[in-house]
Amino acid sequence: MCGIVGYIGKANAKEIIVEGLRRLEYRGYDSAGIALYRNGKIETRKHVGELKNLEKIIADPEYDSYMGIGHTRWATHGVPSDINAHPHSNSDNTITVVHNGIIENFLELRRMLEEEHNVVFRSDTDTEVIAHLISLYYDGDLHEAVNKAVAKMRGAYAIAVICASEPDKIIGVRKDAPLVAGIGEGCNFLASDIPAFLRYVRRVIFLENNETVVVTREKITIYDENNEQVEREPYHVDWDVDAAEKGGYPFFMMKEIHEQPKALADTLKRRLDENGDIVLDGISLAREDIDRLSRIYIVACGTAYHAGLVGKYVIEKMTRIPVEVDVASEFRYRDPYVDENTLFIAISQSGETQDTLAALREAKGKGARILSVVNVVGSSVARESDDVFYTWAGPEIAVASTKAYVTQLMCMYMIGLYMGRLKGTLAEADYHDTIRELLAVPDKLAAFLEDDTQIKNLAKRFYRRNEMFYIGRGLDSTVAYEGSLKMKEISYINTFAIAAGELKHGTIALVEEGTLFITLATQDKLFEKMLSNIEEIRARGAYVVAVAKEGNREIETKADEVIYIPSCPDDLTPLLSVVPLQLFAYHVADARKNNIDKPRNLAKSVTVE
Ligand code: M6R
Repeated sequence: MCGIVGYIGKANAKEIIVEGLRRLEYRGYDSAGIALYRNGKIETRKHVGELKNLEKIIADPEYDSYMGIGHTRWATHGVPSDINAHPHSNSDNTITVVHNGIIENFLELRRMLEEEHNVVFRSDTDTEVIAHLISLYYDGDLHEAVNKAVAKMRGAYAIAVICASEPDKIIGVRKDAPLVAGIGEGCNFLASDIPAFLRYVRRVIFLENNETVVVTREKITIYDENNEQVEREPYHVDWDVDAAEKGGYPFFMMKEIHEQPKALADTLKRRLDENGDIVLDGISLAREDIDRLSRIYIVACGTAYHAGLVGKYVIEKMTRIPVEVDVASEFRYRDPYVDENTLFIAISQSGETQDTLAALREAKGKGARILSVVNVVGSSVARESDDVFYTWAGPEIAVASTKAYVTQLMCMYMIGLYMGRLKGTLAEADYHDTIRELLAVPDKLAAFLEDDTQIKNLAKRFYRRNEMFYIGRGLDSTVAYEGSLKMKEISYINTFAIAAGELKHGTIALVEEGTLFITLATQDKLFEKMLSNIEEIRARGAYVVAVAKEGNREIETKADEVIYIPSCPDDLTPLLSVVPLQLFAYHVADARKNNIDKPRNLAKSVTVE
């Protein structure tokens, strides 16, 4: 995720900003840049790649100032490049901006600036629009110009702005993306995240949504959305830098689990227009392209493959096109039937997984159209695809994938909805009902995440187990696979997942007194069948922990313990039911004192065969 750092004071701003950017490196980034006020001008330097690339081009001692802004970019609009790196400026470089998040209506604003004001854009970013927009409204008062520009911008973002004519201030705005000010002695800071300035100050002011902050050397002034001044007590930070990077969580995995509501909302809302229509920016899937398709392959590895299993259910149901899912390492060697009427969907968080990339090349070579669902902008899978559907999960640091998985699921729903509607196989009413239900998921998930005491207690009871079984039917079976993998990879417990209906064909022989079964029972239409499966295993001594929808009390008569997830339509439950399984795996691994973020023998990105 992008990082913002701003400093105004008496010390060497360049060093302080670069140190702040270094502290934000853990969030992941693909380019970095800095803008300093010098000799009546704003001088910007930026570079793609690691921070050390930027450090090389700002090393000369003359490049220095008492104030400036810096940024690490995680690409969303436009590939990672020097040009697209932040900061971005207006045409005469007098107003400069860094930005986290996305401006949803940037195309509309860009068109207006180009057509009505002859603005010539230098980059592909949505951020540059902000600089030109502020410039358009600037009439000697930066604060007023920022307010006017913000009133035109839609989206979720945090920005920091400086202006050559007003070198005594940095202006920040927060809208659904974090921004925090740090209070120093004769200096002040602005950043997207506390670690950026924790080395220098411990008193901070958190901005609320829709607030603007004017940061000068002497003071920090906050304004609400009506431009009324707001008084706010500073907060004293007593965490160490390491804890601060993890947002106060002990491991990135827990932080990322808690980021899921936002990641889901970002992935969905940024592609919905005001009528609830899905807008697939940059993807050209027209009705005739969809009509031509005779089959769809979804190919991926590990967790991404499990997202593909959900994709099969929903895309096939909504489009009535046959969908096959395959693990990439199998697909590439089995001489699959692929032709020019095939759509190949690759799913990959990193976009660098060797097997997925090789499978993609195999399908491309046979004439398939390639659509990838990727988290890392500009990654190899993204670059080699015809179309890319980005998940907006932000960087995922823990090896165990959590927020990338749920955003991959969201993309599966959106692809199904988009194609089904265009093809006419999905009724308008069903389309809109599903969109409405999807929009409700982030808040439901946030509410569920407020209290994990029950799951923590379960982990305390079962963390010494040597084996665990995960079962479910229909979509629940796909979540069982994912829950089982999560437990395996971070707890090192031997887990086994199977479609519940398959148990009686062999695996049930393993059940004995006390065998632990994590049982997903969220599918209303398969509920009765699932109750029978639970009876079968309990009769043989199994201890059953069930995951069911809130309000479904009947399950309590069959299972030993029930974890309730918020209610939602059957087809959408994977977005919610996976979360208790992620938490269970986390707490079990924690109780076993494992290194949760870096499990043994595993790497975040598997770039070898
Ligand atoms: O980067 P990718 O999504 O292509 O990675 C695929 C798998 O290696 C990955 O999902 C892996 O299974 C996760 N560590 C599981 O948590």
